[in-house]
Amino acid sequence: MADYITAETIRALRERARLTQRELAERVGVTDKAISKWETGRGLPDVALVAPLAAALGVSPAELLTDAWATNRNVAANMRRSLFHVCPVCGNVIHAMVGASASCCGIALPALDAEEPDEGHAISVACTDGELYVTMDHPMEKGHFVSFLAYVTDDRLDLRKLYPEQGCEARFAYRGTGDVYALCNRDGLFSLRGVSTRCLRGR
Ligand SMILES: [Fe+2]
Repeated sequence: MADYITAETIRALRERARLTQRELAERVGVTDKAISKWETGRGLPDVALVAPLAAALGVSPAELLTDAWATNRNVAANMRRSLFHVCPVCGNVIHAMVGASASCCGIALPALDAEEPDEGHAISVACTDGELYVTMDHPMEKGHFVSFLAYVTDDRLDLRKLYPEQGCEARFAYRGTGDVYALCNRDGLFSLRGVSTRCLRGR
């Protein structure tokens, strides 16, 4: 069953807009008691009030009904919680910012768990001239290679696809603190968290 506008949504949006219940009531043309009821789950706004309520709260009617404003608000933070789904058949990489069901080549693909780099998958990062230079001392043979290196910041993912026989390295424009990921086709996903020029100093 789909949710109508929830009490939590109305309260959170009203507080975000820095409105009192009385101020919101005036804008929508209802009593402050009505607002109080909506925010405590003891009543629901009439469907005719969805549009004026959304306008008063600074969101679209669709956002008010689906809670999309809350999801959108978290997108930036979610980038740093990136999930990777990798197809074992064709090597396709599917990136997601929140849990998703992904499939490729007819196979359901779970999100890979990123581990801290072990001895065989140490990730080296240097910062020079506004670039992150990422390297790994790892085999790059057909049966065992690093298939991508990625740099994820709050609002962006840069992914460099790698192939056997080429160097295990990538350069990314530095955009602030982020996480570096490396996918080994045999041993899985590794990540180095919180990479920044500050933490690179002195390395
Ligand atoms: Fe490996």
